[in-house]
Amino acid sequence: MTDKKIETQLVQAGRDKRYTQGAVNSVIQRASSLVFDSVAAKKHATQQRAARELFYGRRGTLTHFSLQDAMTELEGGAGCALYPCGAAAVSNAILAFVSAGDNVLMSGAVYEPTQDFCTKILSKLGVTTTWFDHSCGAEIADLVQPNTRVVFLESPGSITMEVQDVPAIVAAIRQKAPDTVIMLDNTWAAGVLFKPLQHGVDISIQAGTKYLVGHSDAMIGTAVANQRCWAELRENSYLMGQMADADSAYVTSRGLRTLAVRLKQHEESALTVAHWLAQQPEVARVNHPALPTSKGHAFWQRDFTGSSGLFSFILHDRLTDTQLAHYLDHFAHFSMAYSWGGYESLILANQPEEIAAIRPHGGVDFSGTLVRVHIGLENVDDLLDDLAAGFARLRDTV
Ligand SMILES: Cc1ncc(COP(=O)(O)O)c(C=O)c1O
Repeated sequence: MTDKKIETQLVQAGRDKRYTQGAVNSVIQRASSLVFDSVAAKKHATQQRAARELFYGRRGTLTHFSLQDAMTELEGGAGCALYPCGAAAVSNAILAFVSAGDNVLMSGAVYEPTQDFCTKILSKLGVTTTWFDHSCGAEIADLVQPNTRVVFLESPGSITMEVQDVPAIVAAIRQKAPDTVIMLDNTWAAGVLFKPLQHGVDISIQAGTKYLVGHSDAMIGTAVANQRCWAELRENSYLMGQMADADSAYVTSRGLRTLAVRLKQHEESALTVAHWLAQQPEVARVNHPALPTSKGHAFWQRDFTGSSGLFSFILHDRLTDTQLAHYLDHFAHFSMAYSWGGYESLILANQPEEIAAIRPHGGVDFSGTLVRVHIGLENVDDLLDDLAAGFARLRDTV
């Protein structure tokens, strides 16, 4: 484990001379075939194919090795598997460790496609899912069955941002069923603000599409595993044909170099906006892990080193369709789009019944419209003016 500070680590990680070949950044090596000079070279590459030796494009090129080394260092693991997107990282990490007849323990607050993967794909393979509430801590031990193989967490949870008691969950699982593989979707913390492997989690997964890439122009997934799980994850992902393309791997590595400064600005501006929102008469609750009103705030305070730019707030009222359109259609600086983690600000709204439908096991304890914002790198005063104008529009519309 390095004792470098995170900013230095992010600038330097993965920039081995073999990958950069005299430049600052890694080369972009696009390849399917990788040519061997001799029979001996082919034999060596085949023997070392899982150890960063150029073998065949699907095992990775210098561009991929550079990113894999960087992510392994960032998350403190034994190796990093790359995927074409975050959803592929989630599904293939789980698939690597389950067989027919097994059981998965899954937080009810996870990203909707992760839930759908359990109900629509794992179910077809004869793998059952047991859902647990985001607030579950040591009691998770009671849910462990003899066939439980995987525990999957996402902290903070999708859309409603609940932070989980990861150390309590890990301790309980290790005591009851030590071989169970614990995975965590660490996208919100970007591998920087929370270190799952240091808390005993086996695999830290990210939709690198968000903060790692940081510019909303590429899709990639990463899964960093500890020594215990790395070989199994690596070989299963390879057999499932999982790899990112070289260009996406390159822009992800480039994103890492500015990640620390971007995150600091996202954090500062998002906190300003969150505190401002908490003062607005229309707002019933702000779901920002760094605010005491947010569920699991004490766990965030204990386990995280900071916060990023994504959070949500709940209005007292359930907006009518007319109000919703009047509110959302006229923002000057917030765009309406899925995803998050880029430099730009985004806004989306969900009615409570829509949230209940996409997370049937997550519990929805509110009746007003939920608005999710990603606070980007624009000047925060412009963003506050934009949000204030949005509330003014709401007051004018019934
Ligand atoms: C928490 C989380 N995990 C995983 C994903 C999936 O990532 P991708 O869109 O790259 O497949 C997303 C996407 O929004 C996400 O928000």
